[in-house]
Amino acid sequence: MDLHLKDKVVIVTGGAAGIGRATAARFADEGARVVTWDVRGGDVAVDVTKAGEVEGAARDVAAKHGRIDVLINNAGILRDAQLVKWKDGAVTSSMDDATFDAVIAVNLKGVFLCARAVVPHLIAGGGGVILNASSVVGLYGNFGQTNYAATKAGVISFTQTWARELGRYGIRVNAVAPGFIATEMVQQMPAKVLENLSTKAPLGRLGEPDDIANAYVWLASDAAKFISGAVLSVDGGLVLGT
Ligand code: NAI
Repeated sequence: MDLHLKDKVVIVTGGAAGIGRATAARFADEGARVVTWDVRGGDVAVDVTKAGEVEGAARDVAAKHGRIDVLINNAGILRDAQLVKWKDGAVTSSMDDATFDAVIAVNLKGVFLCARAVVPHLIAGGGGVILNASSVVGLYGNFGQTNYAATKAGVISFTQTWARELGRYGIRVNAVAPGFIATEMVQQMPAKVLENLSTKAPLGRLGEPDDIANAYVWLASDAAKFISGAVLSVDGGLVLGT
């Protein structure tokens, strides 16, 4: 299937590692002009939590390539902690404010800032596609992930709201909800937890970055031209097994 992505101008945030790196490579395979934004090691140094950096980088991409067609809001971080830990009648630890705020800043506000900066360029070009990285945990929560799960649920709300607001400009907005994918981020989780998660998925394994990259490429293409406001689970069936 020709996905007609040749020469499309695609921004991938967090594109220097993991799923973002695989996604940038898949779009490049399709002949797209890909720009990765990352705090370390991307084509352009951009911290998605900084409005000025994001807006400047969007202007630079549009000036250099003449347009922007696709934004993949992939950058994300984990800072896990239980809301409250209790032992022998006392609180032993809790999720502190800095831990909560750091994850909200990248995974939620960062998505908002990137979309706000890029959408005028999509409208000016006659339309485009925004794809947001949600997660299975945004659908059903997860132990130790108060901050992270909330951002991934929030990203689904962004997707639904922007699909409604931006459809009139020919902009489609969708989210992908990956299961657990073998990247650096997931390797931070305890081995026992990961093994348990793999066995819960009907397909019985962790995902690979390319599994998600392929979903992004397809959703960005005209093969998905009537899909907007959707959340695509790419999780080996994990969401069914929980
Ligand atoms: P990763 O940790 O391997 O890569 C994330 C990239 O984002 C890194 O290159 C990092 O430098 C960059 N980044 C972090 N903070 C940034 C900032 N402020 N500005 C710009 N770039 C920043 O992560 P992975 O596993 O590839 O995850 C990618 C996305 O997919 C994330 O949004 C994650 O929440 C989501 N996801 C991942 C899953 C997994 O199992 N790996 C499962 C579900 C969702």
